[in-house]
Amino acid sequence: MKHDVQIEVLSELLSQLDAGVNADAGGIRACPAETYTCPDLAKREWEVLFRNQPQMVGMTADLPKPGSFLTTEDFGVPVLLTRDSEGKVRAFLNACRHRGVMVETAEKGEKSRFSCPFHAWTYDATGALIGVPMEDHFGTIDRSCLGLIELPALEQYGFIMVHPDPKGVIDPGVVFEGIAPDLETWNWGRYALGFAQTLDMKMNWKLATDTFGETYHFKRLHRDTLANNFHGDVLSYRSYERNHRMILCMKTIDELRGQPEADWRIENGGFPVYFLFPNVVINVGNQRIAVVRVYADPENPGRSISKISYYFEPSVLAENPGFAQLFSEGFTRIVADEDYAAAETTQRALASGLMKEVIFGRNEPPLHHYHNTFRKALGQEPLPFLG
Ligand code: FES
Ligand SMILES: [Fe+2]
Repeated sequence: MKHDVQIEVLSELLSQLDAGVNADAGGIRACPAETYTCPDLAKREWEVLFRNQPQMVGMTADLPKPGSFLTTEDFGVPVLLTRDSEGKVRAFLNACRHRGVMVETAEKGEKSRFSCPFHAWTYDATGALIGVPMEDHFGTIDRSCLGLIELPALEQYGFIMVHPDPKGVIDPGVVFEGIAPDLETWNWGRYALGFAQTLDMKMNWKLATDTFGETYHFKRLHRDTLANNFHGDVLSYRSYERNHRMILCMKTIDELRGQPEADWRIENGGFPVYFLFPNVVINVGNQRIAVVRVYADPENPGRSISKISYYFEPSVLAENPGFAQLFSEGFTRIVADEDYAAAETTQRALASGLMKEVIFGRNEPPLHHYHNTFRKALGQEPLPFLG
């Protein structure tokens, strides 16, 4: 984040604190219960938001060097990602061109060739078919046409993106719109992976993301945890076409008051949170980030899976691994035991059919924005303001 933006945001938070005001969505909106419970909507969302959008599958640290690979099936398509010998990230359908068996079943590792477990057709990190056992028995094939099916991939600002459709386009101007100027400055491409955790929850994927979208709940739900370090009810918020950014206010911000602005640093008073359309939340601490990817279950609108990965400035992991572990476990515990535990009860209330809507306040602008971005992508009208 550029320094003039850091000063702008910190000044905004201080003036909100002093005036006793918060970010304002301009009105109150109701969000219908079906948003979280409708099986047909869940299937449409899966098609539109997960199967036909570029997906963030990890950070540079998840493919740390040439020869690294990772696999994922989080958005329904089995994908194999490699970093080839020239350092380029590539993505493929994780399926052998012979009879379609998954070529690589490990979650991640290092390999320069991938040998199918069925009959051992073998591919290199660029997806080229380089080995066919008993080819004289099998029959003559044109190997050059039978490489792994390649998917569009992009590595930028430390993010690794894949498009689930081989003909899909990953336009960085669209993927990172609005937040690119900040992302250019963070250097997350140099961070190292610390820890990764998965939470399989009984709630819609949007209820999971909703919990990150305001600080109105900090003094209540998080009164014994985050409220010790953060001012709730204060928020710097910017929305763009589909992405958005909110900056939480840390209690340490008060120490900036006597200091010259030239010395202000965002990590001394602000905690940025970026929302990358459609399902990624990046929580930015000092020399660390917690990246949450939330996945829907197309067969069950009442279930979602959150993949939380923690990345650190390498020196933090090397010099203070204990702190890195404490931070990661603590963050996951708060999310699981406080935010997600509350959101699971919302899911049960909405599933009862007795509660027709939830309400987004003026002080919860991220919720207004991102629900409307989903609705727009699905061809629905924006949520109306109440009365
Ligand atoms: S299915 Fe892969 S080698 Fe036969
Ligand atoms: Fe929370």
